[in-house]
Amino acid sequence: MPNRLPLICPIKDRLRPADVSGQIPLHTLQHKQALGLKLHRRNSTKEQLRTLRLIKQLPRAIIIGVRKGGTRALLEMLSLHPAVVKASQEVHFFDNDKNYACGVDWYLKKMPFSFPHQISIEKSPAYFITEEVPERIFKMNPSIKLLLIVREPTTRTVSDYTQVLEGKEHKNKTYNKFEELVIDNNTCEVNTKYKAVRTSIYTKYLEHWLKFFPTEQFHIVDGDRLITDPLPELKLVEQFLNLPSRISQYNLYFNATRGFFCLRFNFMFSKCLAGSKGRIHPDVNPSIKEKLQRFFHPFNQKFYQITGRTFNWP
Ligand code: A3P
Repeated sequence: MPNRLPLICPIKDRLRPADVSGQIPLHTLQHKQALGLKLHRRNSTKEQLRTLRLIKQLPRAIIIGVRKGGTRALLEMLSLHPAVVKASQEVHFFDNDKNYACGVDWYLKKMPFSFPHQISIEKSPAYFITEEVPERIFKMNPSIKLLLIVREPTTRTVSDYTQVLEGKEHKNKTYNKFEELVIDNNTCEVNTKYKAVRTSIYTKYLEHWLKFFPTEQFHIVDGDRLITDPLPELKLVEQFLNLPSRISQYNLYFNATRGFFCLRFNFMFSKCLAGSKGRIHPDVNPSIKEKLQRFFHPFNQKFYQITGRTFNWP
């Protein structure tokens, strides 16, 4: 049984129960959005903030990665919950020495305004693979909840490559083919010097995190399922965060044009993720794909063993 955070506050008392359709109470969300907009425009005075009892809070949970796992989708989907407020930008406090040197007050300032009963969440996917990060987070809050969203490692590697490729193309630069990067030309084996390959060896990084935090403080999200069937994954996260169940099917609808689930906050406001999420991947030589899958297989087995979560990865 995971060691849950104490209930952050009287959430249940403050939020009305979901209505019969399981929909998030409209007034809460409208208020949350109007507030966000107002504060975003920075036209709120200290007095208004005090009256509204809005504060900045350090995150109770952090999405630590993994890059291309679906970190943006997870953060946006969790923000459908009335008790969750998100830091919109990636904060990069713990992985960037310059930011870290600014101290925890700097970090706090980067957090969104929230009501005392709400929790702040941020995501910075580089946290997962940056060596200094676990210790730094531990020093800030040893009982913080850590969310790690993963995808089938070979797909994640291709996704990572595709993002970099697109960046190069925008700058009119050429880039190697995927196959050239993932295979070491001298040995004909998988090239573990290529960062996109290394990042997909999840156990390698998780084992380092486990020197600082017990497994109970991690929740693994299935990024592949978040694409095809997000609600069950979100329900598991709600449970892990000790939040009352509020995100419902009403809040998620499949957009055939985008080919992904999009978010419905209320009858007036819906949104899909930006076009940079859900890129078309290049075709990969099947034998190289198989070689990668074989390479990741033992690491995946270890990952299932450590996390207690099994995936249908090849
Ligand atoms: P692809 O671009 O490879 O398809 P991250 O936010 O960590 O960079 O992850 C990006 C990935 O999120 C995308 O990878 C996409 O598949 C996935 N994703 C999951 N749910 C999504 C959604 N509802 N809309 C768009 N992309 C989503």
